[in-house]
Amino acid sequence: MRLEPINLFDYEARARPLLSHNNWEFIEAGAMDEITTARNRSAFEDITLRPRFLIDATERKIATTVLGEAISFPVMISPTDGHGLAYSEAECATARGAGMSKTLMMCSTSSHCSLEEIAAAATGPLWFQLSHRGYGPTENLVQRAEAAGYKAIVLTIDAPIPTPKERDIRNRFVRPGEMGNFREFLKQTADTGDDVDPPNWEMPSAPPLTWQDLEWLRSLTNLPIVFKGVRTAEDARLALEHGANAIMVSTHGGRRMDTTMSSIEALPEIVTATAGRVEIYVDSGVRRGSDVLKALALGATAVSVGRPLYWGLAVNGAEGVHHMLELLREEFNRAMAYCGQNSVDDLEERLLNIPREWGPVRTENDIVERLPF
Ligand SMILES: Cc1cc2nc3c(=O)[nH]c(=O)nc-3n(C[C@H](O)[C@H](O)[C@H](O)COP(=O)(O)O)c2cc1C
Repeated sequence: MRLEPINLFDYEARARPLLSHNNWEFIEAGAMDEITTARNRSAFEDITLRPRFLIDATERKIATTVLGEAISFPVMISPTDGHGLAYSEAECATARGAGMSKTLMMCSTSSHCSLEEIAAAATGPLWFQLSHRGYGPTENLVQRAEAAGYKAIVLTIDAPIPTPKERDIRNRFVRPGEMGNFREFLKQTADTGDDVDPPNWEMPSAPPLTWQDLEWLRSLTNLPIVFKGVRTAEDARLALEHGANAIMVSTHGGRRMDTTMSSIEALPEIVTATAGRVEIYVDSGVRRGSDVLKALALGATAVSVGRPLYWGLAVNGAEGVHHMLELLREEFNRAMAYCGQNSVDDLEERLLNIPREWGPVRTENDIVERLPF
């Protein structure tokens, strides 16, 4: 009898033969030489734990909150597009899987299901990830997300222009299916005969947002705004000045700009720069429960996973997403016990050995001196 997957890498291996070559490559790919994608993993591996023993850590609190939303453990689902690449019920199945694990799902603008369909299927909290595709579509999406009960807007800032990945160029990859969130929009523009550049998978049909547009975005909604893709103290400080309610340190899984630092390496300077004023989340390369502990010990409130959700979906739909998350929960719980920790609220940097070459965490003053504003 075949064992069920026992870790996320098993899920990856099981998913591969179940997906078409081109869909698989699209999901796995990073930008260019995929150096940042690899570094997202190797940097986690370079941090080692400092386990502590003879401490009673039998009652461990791993539940937490993110912007006031209760989640059963500090792992969420990152926003990723087109879950139909891996499973027919697409994001609706992912939402059910996340709900079974009592955690939060961030839903991409570029989904196969519409945000309303996902909200109807979900049993846990949802945040809506916004990719700006022009003022009209953004206003429409934000208002629909608020009406459908999404609890925050996750503004992706690290994708100003399209970045075709080299694997996809070689494969002449074309994304299957239509974008659920723009079905109505496309119908309306077809009906009116308006000469509007319709939103599509690849190309934002509008100039990217800038810091100057944030007041406008803020005026559209009362929902909290999470800035996703922050990688430097400079942008973290600007995000705070522009009313960020939380910051997500992310390299987009290394899919946008290659040879940037990994997320976990960037985290300390952002934690220092924001000085506890907002919650910080991290994604990119999280695959093991010990990675979760490392991110929290460095100051994150929670982490999220991207590619693994497709692996879970491909292997077993909503149940696969749920089981993939449960494996992470189990591993994280074990890492907590081995580090003698009773609560996610108490994790500190002293639980880790950080590679010497990363250097000391820069102080707020060092950063301020270098800023041009
Ligand atoms: C196939 C795929 C599609 C993605 N689409 C989006 C997206 O639409 N919006 C977004 O903000 N991030 C997107 N991301 C990035 C994820 O939100 C997340 O940052 C990344 O997957 C985390 O890294 P990991 O895959 O190593 O866990 C995508 C990632 C993947 C793998």
